[in-house]
Formats: sequence, C-alpha cells, structure tokens
Amino acid sequence: MRSAAVVGTGLIGTSIALALAARGVAVYLRDADLDSARTAASLGAGTTEEPPGPVDLAVIAVPPGLVAEVLAEAQAAGLARAYTDVASVKSGPRQDIAARGCRTSDYIGGHPMGGAERSGPLAARADLFEGRTWVLSPAPDTSTDALNAALELVALCGAVPVVMDPGAHDRAVALVSHTPQLLSSMVAARLADADETAVRLSGPGIRDTTRIAASDPELWVEILSANAGVVADVLDEVAEDLRATVGGLRALQSADAEKRAAGAQAVAEVMRRGNRGRSRIPGKHGAPPTRYEALTVLIGDQPGELARLFGDAGQAGVNIEDVAIEHSTGQQAGFVTLSVAPTAVPVLAAALRERGWRIRG
Ligand SMILES: NC(=O)c1ccc[n+]([C@@H]2O[C@H](COP(=O)([O-])OP(=O)(O)OC[C@H]3O[C@@H](n4cnc5c(N)ncnc54)[C@H](O)[C@@H]3O)[C@@H](O)[C@H]2O)c1
Repeated sequence: MRSAAVVGTGLIGTSIALALAARGVAVYLRDADLDSARTAASLGAGTTEEPPGPVDLAVIAVPPGLVAEVLAEAQAAGLARAYTDVASVKSGPRQDIAARGCRTSDYIGGHPMGGAERSGPLAARADLFEGRTWVLSPAPDTSTDALNAALELVALCGAVPVVMDPGAHDRAVALVSHTPQLLSSMVAARLADADETAVRLSGPGIRDTTRIAASDPELWVEILSANAGVVADVLDEVAEDLRATVGGLRALQSADAEKRAAGAQAVAEVMRRGNRGRSRIPGKHGAPPTRYEALTVLIGDQPGELARLFGDAGQAGVNIEDVAIEHSTGQQAGFVTLSVAPTAVPVLAAALRERGWRIRG
C-alpha cells in the first residue's frame, strides 16, 4: 500500500493514520471538523492536502450512522480504489449501504477491536491495534483486491484479521463487550445507595466485576443503540439464568430436602456453565487459554516494593504472565498475586522466600 485516505480523524482514524504513516504510507486526512484533521496532521498522521489521484485504500472512521453517507460521497468523488470502515457494529452500516445503493465490489466492512476511553485525535496512538483482532466483513461481491487492501491495512496496524459476517460480528460483540458492560454496571449500581460499611468490605471480586462500570454512560448509550436488539436478546437469556438462580436460591431455604437439593443443583448448574464459558476466553496474544497458577506475596505500602518483587522474580528466571494487587483496607500492606506457568511456582516461591518475601498459603 502506497497511499491511503482516512476520513474521520478522531481516535480510531488518527490511530490508523499514525500506524500507516509510520510505515511509509502517504496518508491523506479528512474530517468534517477541519481542526480535527489539522490536529491529526500535526501529530504526524499525514497531510490535509487533497490526494493527487485515487488512493489505494480509504478508511472511513466516522460514527456508525454516517458510514454509508460518507462512503457514497467518497465513491462518487473517486477518492480510492478500495474502501473500508471501522464501525463497532456491522449490520446497521451494511443495511444503510444497501439502502443507499453504494457499490460493494470495492468495499469491505471492518472493525478493529481496540480502543480507548477517550475520543478525538489527541487520544490516538500508532500502536492502538497492535496484537488486536480486526474483524473484516466482506459483502457478497467484495473483490479480492478490496479484501487484500484491507488485509494489508490490518497487517500494517499490527493486528490480526478475522473474517465474519455482519450478523455474527454483532452477536459476538454483544456477548463479549456490550452485555458485560451492562451487567458490570448493574452489579455496581447495587452499591450506589448501599451502606458505607457494606461498601468498605469490597474486595478483589467486586473490583474485578465492576471495573468497566466506570465507563461513560453517554458514549455507551451511543454504542448500545447501534446494537440494541441483539444486546436485548442476550440480556433476555441472562434474565432466564437470573430467574432460574433466584428460584434455586429460594428453594435452598425450603424445609423440604428434595427442594433444597434441586435448588443447589440449579445454582451449581449456572456456575458450572460460567466455569465453562470462562475457560474458553483466549489467553495472551489470542492463544488458547493457558492455565496459570497464582502465587500471592505480601508487600509493604512503600515506594519501590513492586519493582523489587518483579526484579526478584526476574532474577529467578520466572516470566510473570499477569499481576493483580489487592489492597488491604486501612493497612499499610497489600497482596500481590503473580500468575506464572505452573512449573514456575515452586522455583519462584523458593527464590522469593530466600529473598525475604512472605508468601500467602
Ligand atoms: N472508540 C473506540 O473505542 C472504537 C473502537 C473501535 C471502533 N470504533 C469505531 O470507530 C469510529 C470512530 O470512532 P472514534 O472513537 O474515532 O470517534 P471520534 O469521535 O474520536 O472520531 C470521529 C470523527 O469523525 C468525524 N466525522 C463525523 N462526521 C463526519 C463526516 N461526515 N465526514 C468526515 N468526518 C466526520 C468527527 O469530526 C470526528 O473527528 C466509529 O464508527 C466507532 O464505532 C471506535
């Protein structure tokens, strides 16, 4: 790819432009808000000048509801030889594109699965999609040239392509992103008016399950409204699990032993399915799930403790795969849980004990 146009130089468009420019592609930047395009250019993402002729690929990085309109304009102006978009939902834009009668032979839908909490070019990063999945949704008549241009774009951004049809994509993001967001918010909402003493008991479980409940509501209403029906379908399934679990819990209070056993069975069943679902989530770099083992170490709340711990693990030749910190409420100490390969646990435990660390359990 020698040249590309990016239409919509917000977070996503500018991040793509930065990645392409860094790999020597001539990038032409456009935005309805000229300041945004100029800001992107000043960051080194490309130029706001007009391209001398059709570019190899135009990336349409505007809100999902505007993709078809911008594609139609760009195709009419002969901006590029191939077109793609980056909208987080795929069925709506595809329907709009069909309704407008846009050409689809030189178009392929796309969705890079990376992002950030902030929008606009100033939040952009050239490595935003490094190692991330990038969904491509070809239309039935998408040409091989358009597919190849999109595959090259994905490679230049350091991402991993996955081909999916728009419906499957929208169901997938409802499952792995949109529904978890709402459920996290609902769990956290129970705390909004809870007693201060209850909230103070919060431990790592509630912290983990509510991390994304801090997201921006307006941004999320926009995201959810583009996939509302599919998310509502998934939530209906969740509601069935909730009803079964509530029924199970009520039965657990029964005087009748058989009912209690049935209740326990119902609760255990939903948890077992949860175990199964969780075990299917891919590990680092999209690799199949790896079972790491955890080693929990007590650390003092003072500067340099974490660095010393990581340094000691490094000295022992152990690769830390993941790390979590649990702060003890009201104490000058915390627990650091290091996830490592199972075979590394005894090595790491021995090395850390030798260097004076206290290990839990
Ligand atoms: N934010 C994320 O985490 C994320 C992740 C993956 C995909 N996406 C998708 O990327 C797209 C852009 O999102 P963003 O986060 O970069 O938003 P953003 O608000 O940062 O940028 C959108 C840009 O599009 C411009 N724009 C709007 N209408 C236009 C038009 N008619 N012509 C030219 N420019 C126009 C805006 O001025 C703005 O600069 C959306 O479709 C979104 O669904 C977002």
